[in-house]
Amino acid sequence: MCGIFAYTGKKGKNASGVLLKGLLSLEYRGYDSAGIYLPERGSVKTPGAVAELRKKIPKDFKGKSGIAHLRWATHGEPTEKNAHPHADCEGEVWVVHNGIIENFRELKEKLGQRGHKFKSDSDTEVIAHLVEEHLTTGIGFEKAALAALNDIRGTYGIALQYKKEPDRIIAARMGSPIVLGLGAGEHFIASDPSPILPHTRKVVFLEDGEVAVITPEKHRIFKLDATDVKRKATKIDWSAEEAQKGGYEHFMLKEIMEGPEVIENTLRGRLIPAKGLAKLGGLEGVTKQLEKIERIIIVACGTAYYAGLVGEYMLEEHAGIPVEVELGSEFRYRKPVVNERTAVLAISQSGETLDTLEAVREGKRRGALTLGIVNAVGSTIARETDAGVYNHAGPEIGVASTKAFISQLTALALLTLFLGRQRGMTAQEGKKIAKELQALPAKLAKLLERKEGIASLARKYSDSRDFLFLGRRYNLPVAFEGALKLKEVSYIHAEGCGAGEMKHGPIAMIDEKFPTMAIATKDSMYEKLISNIHEIKARKGHVIAVATEGDKEIAKLVDDVMYVPETLEMLSPILNVVPLQLFAYYFAKGKGLNVDRPRNLAKSVTVE
Ligand code: G6P
Repeated sequence: MCGIFAYTGKKGKNASGVLLKGLLSLEYRGYDSAGIYLPERGSVKTPGAVAELRKKIPKDFKGKSGIAHLRWATHGEPTEKNAHPHADCEGEVWVVHNGIIENFRELKEKLGQRGHKFKSDSDTEVIAHLVEEHLTTGIGFEKAALAALNDIRGTYGIALQYKKEPDRIIAARMGSPIVLGLGAGEHFIASDPSPILPHTRKVVFLEDGEVAVITPEKHRIFKLDATDVKRKATKIDWSAEEAQKGGYEHFMLKEIMEGPEVIENTLRGRLIPAKGLAKLGGLEGVTKQLEKIERIIIVACGTAYYAGLVGEYMLEEHAGIPVEVELGSEFRYRKPVVNERTAVLAISQSGETLDTLEAVREGKRRGALTLGIVNAVGSTIARETDAGVYNHAGPEIGVASTKAFISQLTALALLTLFLGRQRGMTAQEGKKIAKELQALPAKLAKLLERKEGIASLARKYSDSRDFLFLGRRYNLPVAFEGALKLKEVSYIHAEGCGAGEMKHGPIAMIDEKFPTMAIATKDSMYEKLISNIHEIKARKGHVIAVATEGDKEIAKLVDDVMYVPETLEMLSPILNVVPLQLFAYYFAKGKGLNVDRPRNLAKSVTVE
């Protein structure tokens, strides 16, 4: 976790202004504490995020270079003492770090014996002391930094600065993202391109095991063994403004409302409706291998995992391929049976979730073809997979994932069409799916017009402390996701349950204070869901149903209804999840909670 940002420029710009502004666009990566160091002025740190830091910075805190950090706590409480940047004994070597140094205890002990005094509980601080220790041999900052990097084990994205060489900043990457920004007479280091974009669109992504040195005029990349690396810059074409709220009170609402556009963007250029085909450019290089695939294992975490579960239903039913879905955090620790006829498909909005990334690497080690459905272009998972499909959903800032889920489901439907047509899906069926995919943006737009009704429902149920979410088949993962959204942003108890499983336990919880959200759209499971609703009503439970437009019967049975337009069962999760997302949003907003930045959560989880 954590966001890092560093700047070195010749003159003209004020480094602290650049760094503070940049940190704002990284706030989604962590907001437990913030800190900044300028060699010309020293450091300022605070618990909380950028607004708190800004308050503490004196007017004359100006300089030509510096490093800054936003923390999501892993080792040590989120206090000022543990806030980055961390320094050596003399306050000359400074470091910001995203990740975890696994051998920090043993290093700390050794350094302690050599007389180093530690000021924090953070694993990061050992890096500064290690550099200090190596500097005593007279090898200079760059070599001392490289030696220190060779001493540490774990995951990191790092920026290091030395008071005596203020215009030079050293970055390194092992498992946590680092991108360099190449400007005219100025260079940047950041966890992602967003803070760099207002200054330059030319960036270079570091790979694991690489180190970079930037000065205002130059940048150089080399490996941990000091051999040089040559890499061309990439031009980033999305705008930093895309990440702004666009008139909505919260990113979460803005991102839900972007749904129709997100579906269009995910589909753009990828459907041939007249032939019932999907064209996925990112998979062209592996078409032959895909024909031989006998099994797909989807690996993902959080919301992306639930998208994967929907994908399992889609791919098995319509493409005839056996599919398993695994949590990234589990897959890497068992002994999965994988071979070259297995495809490991990672789904990840950020493309940086460590557990998902490691699952990809495990799949690769075992000879699988690795694929990705990833939103963040140039992210680690996107780069390390053999082939993939980008979501093109645009940056998602709200910590609780919404539009990315819609886009992941759309991409999975495209993949189903693509693989299905390779494996015997008829053109007629292909055309039906393609046509309905094209119709989804308008249907979703219609659904979103009813958001005020959902807002008033959220007010009606605002005193409830528990919710049960029921669904079946394609909409079982939607029940899980609906419950997850409510938990994430409202901090209340919500659980998703297969409607068929209700009788094996969850129904015991039902009483008049325990409402149920039932996803009961007109599909192959409709009748069964109706029976479950009767069982709940018989126990005095309140039921809110997600139902198909025009279903008047259900309105007589349940307490409240959220209507959605009709679509193919396979695509119904794309619409059905949206009322649940909106309900969670308004429910949390009604409680006055920080919807975009729920406590204890972070957008991009780059630690285990
Ligand atoms: C975090 C986020 C979730 C997200 C999950 C997976 O927990 O808070 O919203 O679903 O990570 O993230 P990814 O970027 O891999 O989709």
